[in-house]
Amino acid sequence: MEHSKSYDRHILITGGAGFIGSHVVRLFVNQYPNYQIVNLDNLTYAGNLENITDIETADNYTFEKGDITDLSFIQTLFQKYSFDSVIHLAAESHVDRSITEPLEFIKTNVLGTATLLQVAKETWKNDWNGKLFYHVSTDEVYGSLSLGKDMFTEETAYDPRSPYSASKASSDHFVRAYSHTYKMPIVLSNCSNNYGSYQFPEKLIPLFINNILHEKPLPVYGAGLNVRDWLWVEDHAKAIDVIFHKGRLGETYNIGGHNEWQNIALIRLLCRLMDEKLKRDNGSSEKLITYVKDRAGHDLRYAIDASKLEKELGWKPSLQFEEGLSKTIDWYLENTKWLENVTSGNYQKYYEAQYQNR
Ligand code: NAD
Ligand code: DAU
Repeated sequence: MEHSKSYDRHILITGGAGFIGSHVVRLFVNQYPNYQIVNLDNLTYAGNLENITDIETADNYTFEKGDITDLSFIQTLFQKYSFDSVIHLAAESHVDRSITEPLEFIKTNVLGTATLLQVAKETWKNDWNGKLFYHVSTDEVYGSLSLGKDMFTEETAYDPRSPYSASKASSDHFVRAYSHTYKMPIVLSNCSNNYGSYQFPEKLIPLFINNILHEKPLPVYGAGLNVRDWLWVEDHAKAIDVIFHKGRLGETYNIGGHNEWQNIALIRLLCRLMDEKLKRDNGSSEKLITYVKDRAGHDLRYAIDASKLEKELGWKPSLQFEEGLSKTIDWYLENTKWLENVTSGNYQKYYEAQYQNR
């Protein structure tokens, strides 16, 4: 069935049932009917097919459940679909989990990326014409900034400090090594903190929205003075689209919204918006703020200089943060069933019901 139509491109997107991956898959499936999109995801706790129900029956879309570290499975998949491009997002992505389960991160993020690279290399047999391996990475590989005006540029030396960022830095190095050694056509992007719909409620913004909704404590790490640079996930997906099509081979592009927020200031804004939207007394959500023990090795500040991407490829973020945060809260309040399924674990039954017997 996969070959019944002739497509202009055959693209493997990994991690497309996760938060950012689901937005990337949706954008590519809708925007490019002439591309065959295969979404490979192992459906870990973070993978949820309910994130992409709207495109699951599209002609140019196929879902494959499988593990990026499974060499023979990945080989079979490359033979089956004759991929010419990979957009690689599958990863273990949560810093707190990397502190308690670092080996999972090394396996998925390092070995998984290396497995995809090696199979792409073997399958493409060093014929690089029309091929592309795009690795989606994070600004955390650059380490931590002090408070001030400095920003990470593409030239900033790597200084990863958590098991998560060390594993992502390692995978970035492997991607560049395949470019340098074998001349594989690659492109990389390093993005700042994303927020938006379908984010698993372990990350700051959806966790706190969910907790406010249920009047549960809001655990602020340390004094809440750490700074993150926030970007709306759909702007990240659009940047990936632009880089995939127009990025110079071998290059790295930083992606960010020039939108730094100290955690506690962001949390107070979130609390105010939630009070308004839930029609609760002004200040009632802030009463839920609870200062807790700091994250081990907590990076103080991230800030991305995205001027290369803006100048070279003409991308810029479309949404101001306050508007994006308000839209994001509205989405979670309109999709409480999605939140309930995710927090109860019910979402994991979706695959069995929809895909198992196909
Ligand atoms: P996520 O945790 O929401 O999703 C990850 C997806 O990968 C899930 O669907 C999961 O099932 C899948 N996956 C995990 N292990 C797998 C395996 N072994 N085989 C196949 N699939 C597997 O992550 P996210 O927040 O959407 O991040 C996606 C990518 O973007 C990651 O590479 C992450 O490092 C990067 N990134 C994230 C952010 C952010 O703010 N969330 C920012 C910059 C970069
Ligand atoms: O910078 C990009 C990175 O952003 C991505 O590569 C990661 O995949 C993504 O998880 C994110 O990492 P952070 O650690 O910055 O995101 P998180 O949402 O976990 O935390 C944001 C900030 O909020 C951070 O300073 C820790 C703090 N925090 C987080 C949680 C979950 C709290 O104070 N309390 C919390 O309960």
